[in-house]
Amino acid sequence: MLKKAEEEKKKNEEESKQKAEEERKRKEGLRKAEEEKKKREAEQKAEEERKRTEKLRKAEEEKKKKEEEAKQKAEEERRRQEEKKKDEDEKKKKEEAKLKAEERRKQEELQKAEEEKKKSEEKPSSKDSITNTFDYPLRNLLDKADDLLEKEELSAALDQYDSILSKHPSSPRALHGKALVLDRQAEQQQSNTLLEQSIATMEKVLDGKDVPDDLLIMAGKKLAQRQSFRGWNGKAIKTWKFLTEKFPTRLDLKNQLGVSYLVIGKNDEAKEIFKQVLTTDSSNGFAKVHIGFIIKTHDNDASKAIPYLREGVDSGAEGTNDGRFYFHLGDAYQRTNQTSLAHKVYEDGAQKGLFLSKFQRSLYNIDSLTGRPWWTAEQTGYQKYLQILEDNWQLIRDEGMKQLDTKTGSFVPEEENLREKGDWKQFTLYARGKKVEKNCARVPKVCDLIDKIPDAKGCTRGQVKYSVMHPGVHVWPHCGPTNCRIRAHLGLKVPPGPKIRVAEETRQWKEGKIIIFDDSFEHEVWHDGKELRMVLIVDFWHPELTQRQKQTLSPI
Ligand code: LMR
Ligand code: MN
Repeated sequence: MLKKAEEEKKKNEEESKQKAEEERKRKEGLRKAEEEKKKREAEQKAEEERKRTEKLRKAEEEKKKKEEEAKQKAEEERRRQEEKKKDEDEKKKKEEAKLKAEERRKQEELQKAEEEKKKSEEKPSSKDSITNTFDYPLRNLLDKADDLLEKEELSAALDQYDSILSKHPSSPRALHGKALVLDRQAEQQQSNTLLEQSIATMEKVLDGKDVPDDLLIMAGKKLAQRQSFRGWNGKAIKTWKFLTEKFPTRLDLKNQLGVSYLVIGKNDEAKEIFKQVLTTDSSNGFAKVHIGFIIKTHDNDASKAIPYLREGVDSGAEGTNDGRFYFHLGDAYQRTNQTSLAHKVYEDGAQKGLFLSKFQRSLYNIDSLTGRPWWTAEQTGYQKYLQILEDNWQLIRDEGMKQLDTKTGSFVPEEENLREKGDWKQFTLYARGKKVEKNCARVPKVCDLIDKIPDAKGCTRGQVKYSVMHPGVHVWPHCGPTNCRIRAHLGLKVPPGPKIRVAEETRQWKEGKIIIFDDSFEHEVWHDGKELRMVLIVDFWHPELTQRQKQTLSPI
């Protein structure tokens, strides 16, 4: 019994143990499940958190990307705008230039129209004012002849005038018409005989009786112009005088009389006439530029010339827009130390087309020629000849040095009024393409050499000459007269000190060596040394000139 109870107890204990075990297991299971659940939940949470931050990151990225894009877009837009502005500016500039050009063109057109108008005013539309009472009955015949002349049917016109003149030998209109026909024919045939016939016929108009004023002025102007053209300046002056006495209020005629005095070098008479014009019309630009020109070139008074040239040029009056006046106004400023005003005048002149450029201010030019201040031997194409000169430099020096003796030599002072100060002399062997025989006889070997150089010897727009400069010389900035030549200097006696500026570059000579420049460009020389400097100057034709141009250009 006891055993049984014991067993029962054991069994019960066993059972309860088992139960406890089961309970533990169950609890354990539960705990584990709980844990599992918690873990899962934590994991889920973490995952969610990850996802959330990922999402946030992405959103951030997206935002950043968007911002970047916006920035880029803005940058692009800015660039685009900039580009657009540039384009617009460019366009504006172009438009402005176009407008300016247009304005210039219009101005020119206006000027042309003005000139045309003036011309037509001179040529009365109704011929009444040139028809006197004797010509009046013949007016239809005269008109017909004039029409033929207008249509350039010259021989028919001549026949018509002649036929009128056979019956009415003193008809002023017929004489005038006939003179015009002969003048046209003279021009076409380049005939002096015809020109002289034209002049003689026109003179008869002026000698005639009862010639209407308008016809008298027309005929007189034409006559004086043709007389000058023929080289009969004295006769031209007489004609202008006749006109000015007959029509004393016509200042244009007086101005022309002044010009004709100027042409023959009667500067004082010319000045007097221009002064008379200014007494009547104190703002007459034409008279002003001419008085200024005379004071500058003849009286050599730069400061007195300036106001006349300045006001004359600024008046814009007909005949004042001329390179010579700009040339001398600039030079007058330069010589009175008003350099920046000089440059302004030169720039203006270049802009107006009166100069090739602000530095190249020659007035007898061929427009197409290459212009550069300094040349190399290769650029000239004359290497062979330049070499001859360099190879013989000592011979050239020795013959030249012998001519330095002031008693026996042939050097003469520079006389173009180019010096501010100092002693500068020249000895000329060739000028205007002609040998100076008397001088060549003194340096025969040198002239033999030059004779071998066709483009120097035959350069009718240049010279070959020795040039001797003593210490202390300053040559004002100046330009040669033409762009048709280039100038070689062969150094013969070269101490330290002297130097030459051409445009913006200054160089020095070397004994036995050649330097080459285009003397139509502004150049200036200083000699600050202690001994004399001697060079041989040899002008060559500009290498781009044609043979025909070299033969036909007027000598300078
Ligand atoms: C000039 O032509 O003005 C000068 O270069 C001449 C010279 O002797 O230097
Ligand atoms: Mn010079």
